[in-house]
Amino acid sequence: MLLVLKNVSRTYTDAQTNVHAVDDVSLQIAAGEFVAVQGASGSGKSTLLLMAGGLLKPDTGQVQVHGKNPYDLKPDARADFRAQNVGFVFQQFHLVPYLSVLENVLAPSLAVSGSEAETRDRALQLIERFGLSDRQQHVPAKLSSGERQRTAMARALLNEPKLILADEPTGNLDHDNADTLLGYLADFAADGGAVLLVTHDDRAVACAKRVINLQDGRIDKPVSNAV
Ligand SMILES: Nc1ncnc2c1ncn2[C@@H]1O[C@H](COP(=O)(O)OP(=O)(O)OP(=O)(O)O)[C@@H](O)[C@H]1O
Ligand SMILES: [Mg+2]
Repeated sequence: MLLVLKNVSRTYTDAQTNVHAVDDVSLQIAAGEFVAVQGASGSGKSTLLLMAGGLLKPDTGQVQVHGKNPYDLKPDARADFRAQNVGFVFQQFHLVPYLSVLENVLAPSLAVSGSEAETRDRALQLIERFGLSDRQQHVPAKLSSGERQRTAMARALLNEPKLILADEPTGNLDHDNADTLLGYLADFAADGGAVLLVTHDDRAVACAKRVINLQDGRIDKPVSNAV
């Protein structure tokens, strides 16, 4: 299994309230699987994805990525582990504002060893694949939302992770760019990767072999798309 979540829960606490954002969720994703997560705004989708990606420790429950619990690692080792194993596309992109598209896409390579020339070639290929070649020297403030989103996707793929966690990655894309991105993810899963995609986009849901519905932080009835 590339991803295992076992009874994970997370409550956000502040002075007045407790929000049970994710409540006792278990799921497993194997190599080759493309899974979509749906649910109303506030149902816990982003929280679930952050926990799966080693970015937010669950209060209770276990996370395993490639058989390893990222939260057992010290922060630096966990960051390296994430860079090598997980491609994460944030709902709000989180691009570095003072870096160009090319530099943003290259940023994860700092955490792994490899030939600089090859890494740069790969970054340029991804930039081309996502239609950003004529924008590669732009900083994020000079990009459209869709261009930012595609930059975030290219960055997530740079280190050739086995697991992609993407939070509404087609939310800002037009039809053609969404098709390109979904096609890429479908090929990625067909080649033995695993994809967990949070989405409200019917076409993204149609690409998934399995759909998980979150409601108030819990998994509602599971649905399988016909294969
Ligand atoms: N840092 C935080 N502190 C307090 N509450 C939070 C925090 N992050 C999220 N929440 C709350 O947890 C619940 C789940 O939030 P989450 O962002 O996971 O939802 P979501 O399903 O991704 O929603 P959306 O579709 O709007 O992106 C919401 O009620 C939200 O208000
Ligand atoms: Mg969200």
